[in-house]
Amino acid sequence: MKIIVMREDNQMMIDSIKAIAIEAGNIMTSAVRPKIMAKEGHANFCTETDEKIQAFLIERLQAVIPEATFLGEEDGQDVFTEKMSRGFCFVLDPIDGTSNFIYAYRPSVVSIALLKEGKPYMAVVYNPFDDMMFSAVSGEGAYLNGERIMSADTPLKNSLAVFGTAPYYTDLQERTFKIAKELLPLCVDLRRSGTAAWDMCCVAMGCCNLYFELKIQLWDYAAAALIASEAGCTVTDIEGNPLSYKGPSSALCRARGVKEIPECFLKSVPHKRELV
Ligand code: IPD
Repeated sequence: MKIIVMREDNQMMIDSIKAIAIEAGNIMTSAVRPKIMAKEGHANFCTETDEKIQAFLIERLQAVIPEATFLGEEDGQDVFTEKMSRGFCFVLDPIDGTSNFIYAYRPSVVSIALLKEGKPYMAVVYNPFDDMMFSAVSGEGAYLNGERIMSADTPLKNSLAVFGTAPYYTDLQERTFKIAKELLPLCVDLRRSGTAAWDMCCVAMGCCNLYFELKIQLWDYAAAALIASEAGCTVTDIEGNPLSYKGPSSALCRARGVKEIPECFLKSVPHKRELV
């Protein structure tokens, strides 16, 4: 009985978060020539729409869980503090795929994760351009527009792989493209979408079987990593360690059919090079 009551509470909470994500998506799709600001790193931008959506999300999500803390990509709210690993913490990326958004290259998504005691608890990733709503509650499966999803069970050689270029960290370019070059003959082909959250959701829904990126931030992976895990994926850093859910990390998301970490990843880790 207790479990049933908890599930109903979870359902109400995830439904509220999804409804808020749809409204945030409307702000994204209705923006007209937003002001663009530069941030630290190579071609790292923020638009006034990122800031507007983040402010909107904080205001509305606060009403869902008044005691929750917030970590958000924009507006100087981007440092993970000890307090955030206690109780509830919302981790927000108002627009994952900001460069896509600026250049009208689709998609861009709203990403909302809810951590409980520092662990992923609920997740929503919404692509407003195609009205695709991914959601998950820990231990209760992953969904796309209300339908249960599972990652593909086919081997890597018969599937697409996607990767992110870690664009803001120029020192990672060489390693990124070395891995990509070695990965290409192991799969059907490679893709680069421009949003890490979307990439992991694509692995979760089974249209590609592997995603990797050498450095992404907590707000890029927190929601999508839970969705992918709930869809049967193995989500780790590129060495196979669990994600920290505390800050930046490399990321490797493997569908059910990709049982092993391809050697090109392990070989690329500087301190492991001599071991492989
Ligand atoms: C970026 C996107 C991109 C990935 C970068 C992320 P942002 O997030 O997810 O695909 O390659 O590493 O930082 O800056 O658009 O929110």
